[in-house]
Amino acid sequence: MHFFDRAYEGVPPWDIGRPQPEFVRLCERGEIVGRVLDVGCGTGENAIHFAANGHPTWGIDFAPKAIRRAQAKVAGRDLAITFRVGDALHLQALGERFDTITDCGLFHTLSDAERPIYASSVRSALRAGGRLFVLCFSNEEPADWGGPRRVTREELRSAFRDGWKVRSIDPARFAVKDPGTEGKAWRARADRLEV
Ligand SMILES: C[S@@+](CC[C@H](N)C(=O)[O-])C[C@H]1O[C@@H](n2cnc3c(N)ncnc32)[C@H](O)[C@@H]1O
Repeated sequence: MHFFDRAYEGVPPWDIGRPQPEFVRLCERGEIVGRVLDVGCGTGENAIHFAANGHPTWGIDFAPKAIRRAQAKVAGRDLAITFRVGDALHLQALGERFDTITDCGLFHTLSDAERPIYASSVRSALRAGGRLFVLCFSNEEPADWGGPRRVTREELRSAFRDGWKVRSIDPARFAVKDPGTEGKAWRARADRLEV
């Protein structure tokens, strides 16, 4: 069984039972616009937050257990939300276009070889001018405790060089379950160029 699906047999450390505060703030500031796709949505807290704030939202994840849990959370709720098992590296298969794509903790799981595939896949699911927000672990977070791969600003710029305009890469935080033990992150915004 795949690492991630096995992780969802229990409650994985990143699954904090509420939306990540960085995405809540983006939503409050009006930076999440139109139809939203949350890639690597896990059990759906961020996607549910966007839908509850009026954005028709899709959440995809390749871990079936995560998607089943996300679907159970919204059963019977009057939300414009769709959860599907899907691969962030093959979003063309969705046949959908979104105004905003959010990535909370997926990008930093990718290998070097997967990054260009991801960038082109995400691009295919964004309308021209649409925006991608990535929250990923930062190289400023000490690596001594393990955890996900650390990402540098330069790596983010390089991943979204062709066909994108990187609008911002700002220091941010990953909230975790235990208060006071947040992780250092980058919050990046890249807009899909018209070409
Ligand atoms: C660190 S978890 C974050 C989950 C969720 N965004 C959250 O904040 O709770 C990364 C997620 O990305 C998913 N994932 C990793 N690679 C993926 C891929 N290629 N396609 C779809 N989902 C993927 C994993 O199954 C996992 O749920």
